[in-house]
Amino acid sequence: MPPTTADSSVGPLERGLAVLRALAQAPRARLRPSELVALTGLTRSPVDRIATTLVRLGYLREDDRELVLAPRLMELGLAYLHSSGIPEALGPPAEALADELDESVSLAVPDGDAVRFVVQSNRRRTLSVSFRVGDALPAERCAPGELFAADWDVQQYAQWQARTRADPHDAGFPAVPPPRPRRARTTEAELRARAAEARENGWVLDDQRIEPGLVAVAVPVYDQEGRVVCALSVVSHTSRHSAEGLRDFALDRMRNTAEQMSRALAEVDVGPPARTPDRDHSLDAKRELGPEYLQSLARGLSVLAALDRPAGMTLSAVAEATALPRATARRSLLTLEHLGYVAIDADGHRFAPLPRVLDLGYSPLSALSLAELAQPHLTALVRELHESASVAVLDGDDVRYIARVAAGRIMSVAITVGTRFPAHATSLGRVLLAGLPNEHRARWLRNARLESFTDHTVTSADRLAAVLEQAAHDGFALVDQELEEGLRSIAVPLLGRDGQVIAAANVSLHAGRTSADEALRTVLPALRAAAERISADVALVSDAHPLPFA
Ligand code: PHB
Repeated sequence: MPPTTADSSVGPLERGLAVLRALAQAPRARLRPSELVALTGLTRSPVDRIATTLVRLGYLREDDRELVLAPRLMELGLAYLHSSGIPEALGPPAEALADELDESVSLAVPDGDAVRFVVQSNRRRTLSVSFRVGDALPAERCAPGELFAADWDVQQYAQWQARTRADPHDAGFPAVPPPRPRRARTTEAELRARAAEARENGWVLDDQRIEPGLVAVAVPVYDQEGRVVCALSVVSHTSRHSAEGLRDFALDRMRNTAEQMSRALAEVDVGPPARTPDRDHSLDAKRELGPEYLQSLARGLSVLAALDRPAGMTLSAVAEATALPRATARRSLLTLEHLGYVAIDADGHRFAPLPRVLDLGYSPLSALSLAELAQPHLTALVRELHESASVAVLDGDDVRYIARVAAGRIMSVAITVGTRFPAHATSLGRVLLAGLPNEHRARWLRNARLESFTDHTVTSADRLAAVLEQAAHDGFALVDQELEEGLRSIAVPLLGRDGQVIAAANVSLHAGRTSADEALRTVLPALRAAAERISADVALVSDAHPLPFA
């Protein structure tokens, strides 16, 4: 028996998911609690309790009286993506096809009467809209949708009819521009005819249904049983190809890639769980926060986040991964199924997340740059230390600032995003250079001009090489008045998913106020903790695709 809404476990989870969806659709993925009340129809006190719970879980952040989606929330969408196996198995051939054609390539899966992107290899130059992983399109306005509609039953067509009537301007699809005003609505007969033709041909064209100029060709990707798993699309602009021209140019190679993808799907590894069994953290939080903490919401979301194995998971595996009693895990799974986020297989044994999970903020969060990810953590660090903090990347001989939070004290150096300083004389530069592969670092040292700025600046390449070696060993660099008298700064590396140095974070100090020893004792641990939090967010955002930097 599926739980009903009268069941106490359904309410909080259902309402919590509604809050996440409202935030995901909001401009800049942020809202005030009062706006959430208006958008969800909930009253203020449940909204506050949901917010407390989601903040505690790290899924939301409070910022200036607004609630903002936090990168940790991406673990829900990532559970779906990992469980589908698609980005991992089909991302590389999609990328290879994009390289070969020098056009954008995407993979989309069916999601009710919509289409949802799970892979995007963008080569866009002239298109004004660009879709991201997690974005949804109305089926009737895109090529993949017409391929999928061939599998719809009467009920799905009815659902589609109801949606197009209720939302004629596609407001429920925030990534999509509204349809052109005088364009007639697609009728069911038209969609059925186009879907049948698409399946018959094995390809379908989108001639500017999303927006003027955008053309696409899609082909189906089948699994071993002959079911359509996803659609492979190539997307271009009328300035480069007509819709038919794009088909003639790309179709043969798309079909080869689709066949290769079918073979890759057959090899998707259904291995043992990657996660070590967790603890049920909701117990501690409940003890600490009391009635403000919604344990059933927290547990339901931990169940959703745990469902990351290909081919779904059994109840026992979910209970083990979440450290929840079986009965509790089962109730959460049935609630999630009831709400359309989880599917149960025909035998009733395995549970798997559905593409709809990507509606919970995946797309806006996946677009965050390194600078945007770092900003809230720098703000918290500056609040803790009352000293300015920054993030920079290496750019030739210089470091270039990509994020900065000033402590409000007047410093003699005025630094903004975009400011450049010579790498050799700054703590940021030292950890960035220390993070280069040996050969690359040696070449940099041979070519760099090591200008002197104060009596302390290290200007000998040999000395600098030793200093960099030390920084690589220590995992930080302290630079004492080498760029400017009176300025001391300490930096640590920010690591990417594979542990490589992708940027550096620093705190700058007034030499007269903080001794070098004191900086190491007080500033370094806080800076390291902030860097770890930034690196953890970077790892989440870049799990399924490359990270935008600035
Ligand atoms: C896309 O990948 O952006 C895309 C694919 C197919 C369409 C429209 C857009 O029909």
